[in-house]
Amino acid sequence: MSTVLVLNGPNLNLLGTREPEVYGATTLADVEKLCAQACAQHGFTLDFRQSNHEGELVGWLHEAGRAQAAGTLAGVVFNAGAYTHTSVALHDAIKGAAVRVIELHISNVHAREAFRHHSYISPVARAVMAGFGVQGYALAIAGLAAIA
Ligand code: DQA
Repeated sequence: MSTVLVLNGPNLNLLGTREPEVYGATTLADVEKLCAQACAQHGFTLDFRQSNHEGELVGWLHEAGRAQAAGTLAGVVFNAGAYTHTSVALHDAIKGAAVRVIELHISNVHAREAFRHHSYISPVARAVMAGFGVQGYALAIAGLAAIA
């Protein structure tokens, strides 16, 4: 059985209390349960992580690339949070590790401030999902099942 790694970047630990008008009232623990259900439906094992540290996310992407090459990982659903709009290091990590990444945003970043319209992740992502709220995580897992 292959694994899906769901990676969450900075401030996503605050889901549920952070700007609920944008991100909703669902907590990250609820999102983990939703992902576990979606993974079970598609025959995946879930590995669910969050970090506020760019370097830690880089290390996890490298680890994911090795697991994908070994055939134990289907891919990564990655909400890089604000690092989406700033991080050349995450762009390079995805490219360097040759890991299959589905970029995910809870909100529709293109309907928000101009600084959220550019993503360093999109050019190295296999697919992009934005604006479905937290249900996007389940949809991204279903998408991975369709292409992995
Ligand atoms: C986000 C959108 C980003 O612009 C923001 O910095 C986040 C969350 C989203 O899920 O909608 O932290 O990635």
